[in-house]
Amino acid sequence: MQVYFDNAATTALDPQVIKAMVETMELSYGNPSSIHAHGRQVKTIVERARKTVAGLLNTSPSEIFFTSGGTEADNTAIVRGIVDNGIKHAITSPLEHHAVLHTLEALEKNGTVKLTLLNVDGKGQVDLQQLEQLLKDNPRSFVSLMHANNEIGTLTDIEYISALCKQYQAIFHSDTVQTMGHYKHDLTKLQIDFITGAAHKFHGPKGVGFLYVNHNTKINPFIYGGAQERNMRGGTENVYGIVGLAKALEICYAEMAEHRQHIQGLKDYMIAQLRENIHDVQFNGDITPENSLYTVLNVSFPCTDIADMMLFSLDIAGISASGGSACSSGSDIGSHVLRAIGVNSGRPSVRFSFCKNNTREEIDFVVSKLKELCLEKA
Ligand SMILES: Cc1ncc(COP(=O)(O)O)c(C=O)c1O
Repeated sequence: MQVYFDNAATTALDPQVIKAMVETMELSYGNPSSIHAHGRQVKTIVERARKTVAGLLNTSPSEIFFTSGGTEADNTAIVRGIVDNGIKHAITSPLEHHAVLHTLEALEKNGTVKLTLLNVDGKGQVDLQQLEQLLKDNPRSFVSLMHANNEIGTLTDIEYISALCKQYQAIFHSDTVQTMGHYKHDLTKLQIDFITGAAHKFHGPKGVGFLYVNHNTKINPFIYGGAQERNMRGGTENVYGIVGLAKALEICYAEMAEHRQHIQGLKDYMIAQLRENIHDVQFNGDITPENSLYTVLNVSFPCTDIADMMLFSLDIAGISASGGSACSSGSDIGSHVLRAIGVNSGRPSVRFSFCKNNTREEIDFVVSKLKELCLEKA
């Protein structure tokens, strides 16, 4: 049996997405910037996709900009949001994805901003009182806090944070890469400056994503070049990727309730099976359904000789998952997220992440393999 439990890294393409992309590839090869019929036809396809994405997020197509993925969208929001608005103080958390953390650290290093990292608790929740005090002391800060953590799944209350940011005239960016397609983002309700998406996390293609920029927030391009994306992002559009992204998001929104119930059921089942069968198992992050992304489960296992090679052993057994310990050993520099929430660095940790295609039988198979690797409960 082959099991893919690494859906937070990337997901399989939905067959309907492949179909939509292939149809476009076969029929539409013009450059959307060309003014002739071939170009105009493809321009219409791109704008239709933008309208689809905007419609799903309840916002205007003029606020959606296609990018090469989540990393570019995060970089654009952070670099341009800070530089073009003369921001001198940025706030984030040590648990952010490197697309955010390394970008902000680079801006701190070159003297553009002073960077403050919020305190986090053992479940991966940021200190909201500290955030409010920092915003009081430094009005017009730039705040970047992710909606769900990609390693431990802990959800952040971005509606509450957006209200705080508004109160203190801060610019708020949220990396929503892990929740896009899994939760409904309604941008008429969420008062936020930037959110981001990457198609490959929701059964779309790799190398394409988007950035939402609130129409009240002014930024310059991150990538200069032609007049594409209404002068905001130079470069011929990834037309087939954009078609796939819009189709994938459309499917997610149409089937969200059903998939959420199925995937949350898998996660609950795996938690129960691990508790029942594996000695001294520990769940990292917040695992309550209200505060946790339903696609992600991060687990620490007992420290045994075999457990040391956990991911490798799972791979040999046909199981793809990811993770690693909180420690630094050899070439494995460890997880900055697990370290920051104080996970015991001696224990091997694995992130299992699920999607609509996974089944309970796969969980039974994984748990049976884990029993062989870990101390089976007596
Ligand atoms: C939370 C988060 N942000 C950003 C990214 C980067 O997205 P991409 O791989 O599309 O550049 C990822 C991907 O792992 C992610 O999980």
